[in-house]
Amino acid sequence: MKQITVELSESSYAVQIESGLLSRAGDLLARHARGRRMLVVTDSNVVTHVARDFLGGLNAAGIDTVVHTLPAGEASKSWEQLSVLVDWLLANHVERSDHIIALGGGVVGDITGFAAHIVKRGCNFIQVPTTLLAQVDSSVGGKTAINTAAGKNLVGAFHQPSLVLIDPDVLQSLPRRELAAGFAEVVKYGLIDDPEFFDYCDVNVQAFFDGDSGVRAYAIAHSVQSKARIVAADERELTGTRALLNLGHTFGHALEADTGYSSKLLHGEAVAAGMALAFRYSVRRGHCSVDDAARAASVLHKAGLPTTLNEAGVTAGGAELVEHMLHDKKKAGGTLPFLLANGIGQTFLAKDVDLADVASFLDEEAQSQS
Ligand SMILES: NC(=O)c1ccc[n+]([C@@H]2O[C@H](COP(=O)([O-])OP(=O)(O)OC[C@H]3O[C@@H](n4cnc5c(N)ncnc54)[C@H](O)[C@@H]3O)[C@@H](O)[C@H]2O)c1
Repeated sequence: MKQITVELSESSYAVQIESGLLSRAGDLLARHARGRRMLVVTDSNVVTHVARDFLGGLNAAGIDTVVHTLPAGEASKSWEQLSVLVDWLLANHVERSDHIIALGGGVVGDITGFAAHIVKRGCNFIQVPTTLLAQVDSSVGGKTAINTAAGKNLVGAFHQPSLVLIDPDVLQSLPRRELAAGFAEVVKYGLIDDPEFFDYCDVNVQAFFDGDSGVRAYAIAHSVQSKARIVAADERELTGTRALLNLGHTFGHALEADTGYSSKLLHGEAVAAGMALAFRYSVRRGHCSVDDAARAASVLHKAGLPTTLNEAGVTAGGAELVEHMLHDKKKAGGTLPFLLANGIGQTFLAKDVDLADVASFLDEEAQSQS
């Protein structure tokens, strides 16, 4: 079993990664249960594909469970579903020392973590991520949130899990498109500050999608290690280090907003197109070589991810997309910081970006593809 520790000043925790881990999780979780029932939150797809093995393992270890099933999909990160979830936790007499389990993708993890944060002024929770995106990104680092009418993830809290259990085998039932969306976040770690890992992703992209268990396990563990390192350096996103994890997200959020935060464009797909745009915009500003921008787009393309506005299904003009960006919560003092790159593995935060220039760039991008 691979174990990675997320070293935080107040609340370090372990991320355990192993094939087949979920069906054996009962023994690991028994000490967290302390003889009490465990409250498991999942979604309507995960309950079909993954939950039976996991719950069976818990029951075999003598842990009783109660399960709350959210409707699958981003729309569940809502006030309505939060309210239902909180009422369910309270109706089940959750105590602060209980461990609420989030079994699912980023949607289940984000809303369950937020519910755990607000119920009884903070309960423990355990992340059991079942999508690639959740395994390599959202389950580690303690960001929790729901969406509101004003935008995505605008209501939330930092609430670290007490344990993260990752079983790469659960990805077998994940649709290919969701797997690719998560792969965008894997490639992101290479693009941020790890050119060797970028090369690994480039060389092994086919093996990864063919289901090579060694490649998958390595890519997941290396990504978690990168995320743990960056989060440990800047847990609350105060120094700029953690902001590097938002590579592709400012462009990406605008693309998601234009496509209505819908299944037309998944979050990871928006990040992929956003990273390709950030690299090409870096070329335009003279930071990055054309060659590096092309290499960044190429590995994403090989994974079947969108790398242009057209492929992302975006129809809005540059000015409209910039307007979406201004709703991004990372807007500070009326300016918009952008993550740009000097090359593969050389991402930096630029605070002097002219939004009119970004709008022109996006218009030119759209024209060059029409
Ligand atoms: N908290 C963070 O730091 C952070 C970071 C990145 C993204 N996010 C959030 O994560 C969310 C996206 O997460 P996601 O991509 O995991 O989406 P998701 O949770 O919606 O899962 C994607 C789909 O896969 C299904 N699914 C999950 N596991 C499965 C499995 N093993 N087999 C078959 N189907 C399965 C789900 O039911 C859903 O239909 C967004 O809301 C985003 O804002 C949060």
